[in-house]
Amino acid sequence: MADAYAVIGHPIGHTKSPLIHGLFAEATGQDMAYTAIEGRPGHFAEDAQAFRARGGRGMNVTAPFKLDAVAFATDRSERARLAGAANALKFEGERVFAENFDGIGLARDVVHNLGCAMRGRRVLLLGAGGAARGALLPFLEQQPAELVIVNRSVDKAQALQAEAQARGPVRACGYADLAGQRFDLVVNATSASLRAELPPVPASVFQPDGLAYELAYGKGLTPFLRLAQQSGTRRLADGVGMLVEQAAEAFAWWRGVRPETGAVIRRLTVPLA
Ligand code: ATR
Repeated sequence: MADAYAVIGHPIGHTKSPLIHGLFAEATGQDMAYTAIEGRPGHFAEDAQAFRARGGRGMNVTAPFKLDAVAFATDRSERARLAGAANALKFEGERVFAENFDGIGLARDVVHNLGCAMRGRRVLLLGAGGAARGALLPFLEQQPAELVIVNRSVDKAQALQAEAQARGPVRACGYADLAGQRFDLVVNATSASLRAELPPVPASVFQPDGLAYELAYGKGLTPFLRLAQQSGTRRLADGVGMLVEQAAEAFAWWRGVRPETGAVIRRLTVPLA
C-alpha cells in the first residue's frame, strides 16, 4: 500500500499541495498517496491523531493550525521552535517531529531560483506575524548587511528583533521610519494582499535592480507589487517558488530524496499581469 501523507488546513479547498507532492512522487518514483484534510478549528490534535491512526506518515500543516501543530509534536526542530509554528509533521512510532520549512523555502526561492543573493545586501521584511517570523532565521543565515523588519504595530517588530538579534544584524522600525531608505530586496510578509490592501510602505524603498517579493501566491499584481513596479523595480515575484520549495524540503525530510523543483514551479506559475 502507498505511504499516506496529507495536508491539513481550514479551509483547505484551494490547496496545491496534493498536486505538488503528486508530481514530486511521480518524478522520484516514491510510492505515496497524498490527500487534503479539512481540519476543524479547535480539534487539530484529534484530526491529526485520526490520520496517524489510519497509518499516516506525515502531514503538511497550513492556516490556522501551524501553532497547534507545534503543540501536538513531541519533538520540535530549532526552526519550528523559533518560528513558534510548524508547517510539517513526521510520524515515527510514538514520536511526532515538527518542522517549519516556510522560511527556508522562501530563502531558497529568492537566492537560488531568482538569483537574488542576500549576502551583504539590505533586506526589508514587511510584517511581524507568523509569516515574517518564519523568514527571520533563514534570512539572517544568508548574512545580509542589514535585515529591517517593519510593522504597523512597531512593538511586534521589536519583539521579533529581540528574539533574532543574537543571530545577525536585525532592526525593527515603523513605516514612517523608512523615508529615505532603499533596499535590495523587499519582501511583503504581511497579510495585506489577501484583502487587496497596500501596506503603507514608501515607494522610495524600492530600487530598479532590486527584487520585490510577494508571499501571497496566484493573486497577480497585488497593490504591493504594483507599487514596486511603478517605482521602477524590474524584478517582481510572488510566492509560487516558496510554495514549491517548502514542499520539496518536506518531501526530502519524509522520503530522503530531494525532488527537482523547476518544472513544478513553471507548471504552477500564474503570470503576474
Ligand atoms: P501571518 O501568519 O500571515 O503572518 P498574522 O500573524 O495575522 O498573519 O500577521 C499579519 C501581519 O500582516 C501583521 O504583521 C500585520 O500588521 P500588524 O501587526 O500591525 O496588524 C500585517 N498587516 C495586515 N494587514 C496589513 C496592512 N493593510 N498594512 C500593513 N500591514 C498589515
